[in-house]
Amino acid sequence: MEASINGTRMHWREVGRGEPVLFVHGFPFHGGLWEEQLERLPRRWRFLAPDLRGFGRSEAGETKTYSLDLLADDLAALLDSLGLERAAVCGLSMGGYVAFALWRRHRERIGALVLCDTRAAADTEEARAGRRQLAERVRREGTSAAAEELLPKLLSAKTRRERPEAVRRLRVIMESVPPETVVRALEAMAERPDRTTLLPAIDAPVLVVMGSEDALIPRDEGELLARSVRDGRLVVIPGTGHVPPLEDPEAFNRALVHFLEAVQ
Ligand code: MLT
Repeated sequence: MEASINGTRMHWREVGRGEPVLFVHGFPFHGGLWEEQLERLPRRWRFLAPDLRGFGRSEAGETKTYSLDLLADDLAALLDSLGLERAAVCGLSMGGYVAFALWRRHRERIGALVLCDTRAAADTEEARAGRRQLAERVRREGTSAAAEELLPKLLSAKTRRERPEAVRRLRVIMESVPPETVVRALEAMAERPDRTTLLPAIDAPVLVVMGSEDALIPRDEGELLARSVRDGRLVVIPGTGHVPPLEDPEAFNRALVHFLEAVQ
């Protein structure tokens, strides 16, 4: 599906009927990351998986710099255009940063939150420097430089050993992202503010999902996140890394359905 959203052309995938669930992909992916959620989850919810601005088949728009606030405003505008007051929002990693921005700017649109392998804290100086270096490489060498650097860190050893098709799929998704978008997203993430002070005020039900082998976000950060909101719970998916919805869709979908049934 496609529509004019917040001054740009946005593409999204959609299946099912019922209470809406908005999937927000991580970096540098697109909405196709949620393929096995859209294919396998029961159709009694309306699942929406947009490509964020500049990713996948969504246009990059006029703005040369992105912020997580801008990406969050795009999602609020998508809900507006579909006539949806609120949705359960499920964000993976950068998608979680966007979900925090959405909460801060449009909290009335969020009925429940699923925060998957993400964090509320801002980047450290070291992380910012790493992003600047990666942005430089991507400007020189293209998106494959980002795929090459990130892919080994994203998936667990088990996924890399046992699910070569998932590794290939993630690489294809990553390599499809235009280099300008990769650079803009890196800059937006480096600039993102700390959201930890926001957590105690989050009163929507929250499910934190962590891959047991996530090499980018340590499990205790997920535990802290679940404890810091008012109504939080944590599910750790064994044998998965930073991308559980793709690495073990069955376990991820089970946890998601269980949560949605409990809160809606
Ligand atoms: C992601 O998966 O979205 C990224 O790992 C987020 C980040 O680089 O902080």
